Amino acid sequence: MSDQYAVAGNPIGHSKSPAIHTTFAEQTGQDLSYEAKLFELDSFSEQAHAFFGAGGKGLNVTVPFKLDAWQLAEVLSKRAQRAGSVNTLMVGKDDKIYGDNTDGVGLVRDILQNYGGTLAKKRVLVLGAGGAVRGVLAIILAEKPKSLMIANRTVAKAQTLADEFADLAKVSACGFEALAGQKFDLIINGTAASLQGDLPPLPDEILAEGAWCYDMMYGAEETVFNRWARQQGAGKTMDGLGMLVEQAAESFFMWRHVRPDTAPVIASLRAQLG
Ligand code: ATR
Repeated sequence: MSDQYAVAGNPIGHSKSPAIHTTFAEQTGQDLSYEAKLFELDSFSEQAHAFFGAGGKGLNVTVPFKLDAWQLAEVLSKRAQRAGSVNTLMVGKDDKIYGDNTDGVGLVRDILQNYGGTLAKKRVLVLGAGGAVRGVLAIILAEKPKSLMIANRTVAKAQTLADEFADLAKVSACGFEALAGQKFDLIINGTAASLQGDLPPLPDEILAEGAWCYDMMYGAEETVFNRWARQQGAGKTMDGLGMLVEQAAESFFMWRHVRPDTAPVIASLRAQLG
């Protein structure tokens, strides 16, 4: 029987992970199956153990179970420890359950490799201070930006995150209105505002000349944040579709030790979005 993999979430019907991983497997000649699993909300641990108990090799974990997966993992990668959440579980040779978080690598690889950008020496602004942002901060800081500011509606949450990562680099925190008069070379939107078609209340003129903007969300239509960015004169706007495929590729690499080619998969998903 092929090695079994799955993505667990609730809801899960919309997940693109089965299509992505199945394409990766075909591309690389890996003999595996990958399916979407709807997990009940109150018993992640039992269901994950049942999956691994039945011979499952690896599990991707999505909303709302990333914290449960972090708690379930017996061994956490350094980046997962920092992220405070896990999106990739696997059984090790020692039969222990390993937890990793590939979201930060997915984001940074999309900006660096797919768009040819850089974070090094840039003034970076991250919007939001929830789990999505916590998951990527350490990997952003590893690129050595000139500065990193976290802006959030609830300033105290931004400050808590900034303090938590202060041992890696200087990280500042503020509310949206306090951004007025500052300039940034790269803005990454990690708020859940886009999900509701909302835009954080950002002051005008905070983009430096040619600044890039990245929305961790994506959709068939341009996101409200990216529309704002374009109207503010951004040099480039990017959405989270590439991040989705790159985080999947990193999970695939953790599991199978081969790197799939992400470009055709991103292009095909983009075409399907319409
Ligand atoms: P996730 O795990 O997806 O990051 P979360 O932990 O609920 O979800 O965090 C959501 C983030 O989006 C938070 O930073 C939230 O701001 P608050 O901390 O002030 O709640 C932000 N957010 C959600 N809706 C928003 C909106 N309409 N405008 C601005 N920020 C918003």
